[in-house]
Amino acid sequence: MCFRKKKITEIISYLESIKNSKSSQQYSIEENISFFNNIDSFSQFLKWVKTRMPKIKKEEITELTDFENEQYSKELHESLIKLERGYIPGFIAPIVKKISIYIKKRNSALLIADLGSGSAELSRQIINKVVKTKFKHSITIVAFDYSKASHKIANNNLASLKKHIHIFEKEHLTETELETIASNGNTINVVLVRNNIFNIERDFENSKFDIAYHSFFKHHLNIKEKAKLDAIIQNKATVAFEYDGYKSFVGMVIQAFFVWRKPVLLNGAVFSNLRYYSKEEIKKGKDKSKIKFFIFGMFLTYRCTYLRTIQNQ
Ligand SMILES: C[S@@+](CC[C@H](N)C(=O)[O-])C[C@H]1O[C@@H](n2cnc3c(N)ncnc32)[C@H](O)[C@@H]1O
Repeated sequence: MCFRKKKITEIISYLESIKNSKSSQQYSIEENISFFNNIDSFSQFLKWVKTRMPKIKKEEITELTDFENEQYSKELHESLIKLERGYIPGFIAPIVKKISIYIKKRNSALLIADLGSGSAELSRQIINKVVKTKFKHSITIVAFDYSKASHKIANNNLASLKKHIHIFEKEHLTETELETIASNGNTINVVLVRNNIFNIERDFENSKFDIAYHSFFKHHLNIKEKAKLDAIIQNKATVAFEYDGYKSFVGMVIQAFFVWRKPVLLNGAVFSNLRYYSKEEIKKGKDKSKIKFFIFGMFLTYRCTYLRTIQNQ
């Protein structure tokens, strides 16, 4: 049995094994099983895309990595890092550029929230650019991710910046601890925390973040959670940057082709596209925000992402 087929069989047995313990996610698990049962060949996959995919209830599905399996989360983050570091398709290049220019212009000490930080690759690339500008003020980035697996990967991923940053890891960061770290005199602090994003208003009652950002995070949330995230950002951040994909059938097929050999990533590419909003739905969003769409990356490779800038003050 080839490696890819073995992986698919292993994932299906895993999904079968959690079916009874995660009763609220039964529908999503069934749709994930059907997906993995139909990706032995590209033609079988295209048949699934034509027949089963249109019937999927997009508000009720989650991706394989949302079932909190440490091994699959690790695989997803490691593959994402490669995509996000590569010039092709330069997945996060637009948000990295926008935020690093903004930080340089602000030219003051900053408290930043990276929401759903995953591998912290976005923060890593921003810091990399900022240190090159010889930024003189202190920056404290609080990287929120409740997954232990993500913290491990983020720690390794940030290792290349050890000369420039101080890394802290906290199960639960309190407001007092945050104040102490932010005023410790270091130029750049990165605090990896497991606090739930939805408790930010309670956990940091008296603090406000100068900047909040998130990438490839919002589509993981359901409608209520998305609205809650927007409200938290409005109350707790002066400026915010939201970066995610938008729905594109062509983009999804092209991405599926490129990640075909990696079933975990393939599932992410297809199921995230199902959950993405269309360009029209994204434009209908908040009035105070500016939105820019990105279709092509380097060498005309498909990207299909948007960047929303929200100025709250
Ligand atoms: C797809 S990853 C984001 C990747 C990363 N921002 C990037 O661009 O590579 C989404 C992350 O959000 C985290 N997450 C989801 N819901 C969360 C919550 N309520 N609080 C904290 N972290 C959460 C997950 O553990 C996961 O690592």
